[in-house]
Amino acid sequence: MVNPDRFLKSLHELRQFGASGVGKGVVRPAYSDEDIAAREWLMAQMHDAGLSVHVDPVGSVWGLAEGPSLLLGSHSDSQPEGGWLDGALGVMAALEIARAAQESGGPAVSVVSFQDEEGRFGVTTGSTVWSGKLPLEDADKLTDKAGVTFAEARARMAHLAGDFVDPAQFTGFIEMHIEQGPWLDKSGEAIGVVTDIVGIRDMRITFTGEQNHAGTTPMHLRRDAFQGLNDFATHINSTFADVVTPSTVWTIGHVSLHPNASSIVPGKVTFSMQWRDGDADRLNRMEGIIREAAQTVAEARDLQLEFGPLLGLEPVAMDTRLRGALADSAATHVPDRWREMPSGALHDATNVAVHMPVAMVFVPSINGISHAFGEDTDEGDLVKGLEVLAGAVARLTN
Ligand code: GLV
Ligand code: MN
Ligand code: MN
Repeated sequence: MVNPDRFLKSLHELRQFGASGVGKGVVRPAYSDEDIAAREWLMAQMHDAGLSVHVDPVGSVWGLAEGPSLLLGSHSDSQPEGGWLDGALGVMAALEIARAAQESGGPAVSVVSFQDEEGRFGVTTGSTVWSGKLPLEDADKLTDKAGVTFAEARARMAHLAGDFVDPAQFTGFIEMHIEQGPWLDKSGEAIGVVTDIVGIRDMRITFTGEQNHAGTTPMHLRRDAFQGLNDFATHINSTFADVVTPSTVWTIGHVSLHPNASSIVPGKVTFSMQWRDGDADRLNRMEGIIREAAQTVAEARDLQLEFGPLLGLEPVAMDTRLRGALADSAATHVPDRWREMPSGALHDATNVAVHMPVAMVFVPSINGISHAFGEDTDEGDLVKGLEVLAGAVARLTN
């Protein structure tokens, strides 16, 4: 039997690594001191749960049951400003189910916390490399916003690391997560059983113009990188209208403007361009629009244009058997308070699906807030999620 108090206590304990002063916020980006300390704490918890503990070359932490097992988990790194549940919830729920299994002599459940799900270096970097979609040598060249390479960052965990874990030992993967959107909270429902995870594309774009004096340079002679970004954002917003649906999203979330000073015409801007949709074909059409818009703006404003590597994940459907077990369990634990729904957020499950059947279960996010210090979920709903997950595990392993 899972123990809700022990599960909640562990969640709060994990939050102490990188706890911010604001609300229940957490600052625990991949490979930070706080992230590594949290992973070492997790390794001890896994060991106490009777699992064999293993760290892979990218710093994902595994607690392995003997023989074939069902894999549960998520990630324990956070966004630069994140909440206490994004990722952490799925790992702590997995740990509690493994503890309960140890106490009752089964079933065989393994636990994972993937590294850099939040994409300090890319998009779900740890599970992407583990899945084989991205060779480690290529990942090593990726850089974060400060120019640190993935190779340098993962070297911080080299003293813990062994080989990659063989996926053949797992019979399937279930990831529990907060919804990170408004729908369950709005409807007062407790559980979302995920049908599909959207696809994503993510690329850095750089416009280089000419840095100059902001008082003396006439407007018609400027090669202003910021104005280029401004034109680009307006251009794609209007051109996308012909292609997108109400569930398509796109974000320019990081901008680095050089030299970022009031009295200087900016000479260079590098920014992130990210777009997501459930239809791979639409993602490709949006890529075409983005490249063309950037080219048009660069020519009109006499800017140099550079595209970084295009990173991305394809949309993925959840496995019907695993999803059915979650739906069955939800119908038992929270009749009339659950629904099936797609995931607009990315998850490691997308990569795990390369190797085995995967499914996901959501609990509500209060006011739909996530990737922010204000992220939270009623503790009663966290426990409902744990119980639904445990019920699904029992159905699949009996
Ligand atoms: C994952 O955190 C995402 O960006 O959806
Ligand atoms: Mn997450
Ligand atoms: Mn996240």
